Amino acid sequence: MLILIKSGRVIDPGNIDGIMNILIKDGLIAEITQAEPVFFGKDIRIIEAGGLIVTPGLIDMHVHLREPGHEYKETIETGCRAAVHGGFTSVCAMPNTNPVNDSKEVTHFILKQAEAAGYARIYPVGAISQGLEGKILSEFFDLKEAGVKAVSDDGFPVRSSLLMRRALEYAKGFGLLVISHCEEMDLAKSGVMNEGEVATRLGLGGIPNAAESVAVMRDIALSELTGAPLHIAHVSTRESVDAIRNAKKRGAPVTAETAPHYFTLTHDAVHGYNTFAKMNPPLRSAEDRTAVREGLADGTIDVIATDHAPHSSIEKDVEFEFAANGIVGLETSLPLSLKLVTDGFLSMDELVKKMSKNPARIIGIENTLKPGAVADLTIIDPDYHSKVNSAEFKSMGRNTPFDGMKIKGGAVFTLVRGKVVFEKERP
Ligand code: DOR
Ligand code: ZN
Repeated sequence: MLILIKSGRVIDPGNIDGIMNILIKDGLIAEITQAEPVFFGKDIRIIEAGGLIVTPGLIDMHVHLREPGHEYKETIETGCRAAVHGGFTSVCAMPNTNPVNDSKEVTHFILKQAEAAGYARIYPVGAISQGLEGKILSEFFDLKEAGVKAVSDDGFPVRSSLLMRRALEYAKGFGLLVISHCEEMDLAKSGVMNEGEVATRLGLGGIPNAAESVAVMRDIALSELTGAPLHIAHVSTRESVDAIRNAKKRGAPVTAETAPHYFTLTHDAVHGYNTFAKMNPPLRSAEDRTAVREGLADGTIDVIATDHAPHSSIEKDVEFEFAANGIVGLETSLPLSLKLVTDGFLSMDELVKKMSKNPARIIGIENTLKPGAVADLTIIDPDYHSKVNSAEFKSMGRNTPFDGMKIKGGAVFTLVRGKVVFEKERP
């Protein structure tokens, strides 16, 4: 069957920006033209995209799907379904599962489950260290052969600078990207939220900005030492943004991501001991939020990822100190990011770079709208008004601090391999 996406504003930064028609055949883009393509026969689906934006598929570089091991929080199927509902055609799945993804067997399993689910693609991220224990490197060659593009000890920061150096050296040799969760554990361990006035008022232990930026600076130094590409995960502080900006000025092979909660909320969201506002790194001050927005605007921060981290009420419906870190993000990321465009921090073109083109470039995959390319694409309505309703999430996680928030815009169609895997119901 053919699909014709008609009269959408096609935005593929550096390639196309204009009102175009896209014809899809056998899972591939057959034509992109201003004129309506000529076709024969009736077996065609026409998607009227007037007023909508058509982009290369959105890619979320940082998600936690809890399979294998914690399927009561999320499965690969529910996570991939949530992804396409949020407009994502691909996600990078972090390795802190049980067993940890430090082997080709677990990588194969994840890929098999993703294929069986049939929604978004998964690019599994392998562990830097075996069992995420920070002691012995995983078998990078095996992981690479099995289909891994990046390695990370996300959630369990690599303490040893020597191990991190070796990880960067080996990763460079095998063409793998190192994604670093930057956290100096000794500085962070007695805290459960951002260090500052709100923590003092609530009587909660604080995590200083330096717990992140000290580690960011170390890993930048190690990336410069080894010449290995380094991607810094979930940037939350002004000092980290400054360090990354300076590193880029020096030509260091460093890229960075932040998540919608860091440019939308501040530590004020923790008031009332709201465990849905607890994540690692924590929500920071208004000054940090401004710095993150500026870092996105000036290109210091390349990527918007979600750090989608589903938890159940068992982990969240407890005292703040004991609650697990993390919030779900796949189904709120696009509207929250579109607000950056509405508020003038980013152009639509820049947003598409941060949610699609840059993640693809950084992990080393093709993602361009051109004839012959695989038809992974997202159709966005930037204008419809709605409210976040976590009860309707396809994710099994309900842990969002954004429930009830008024939002504007979102995905209306998601196509993976030329197949419509999500279509928003029209009222
Ligand atoms: O908030 C977080 N949740 N931060 C992490 O580093 C890990 C993640 C998780 O796996 O829940
Ligand atoms: Zn994470």
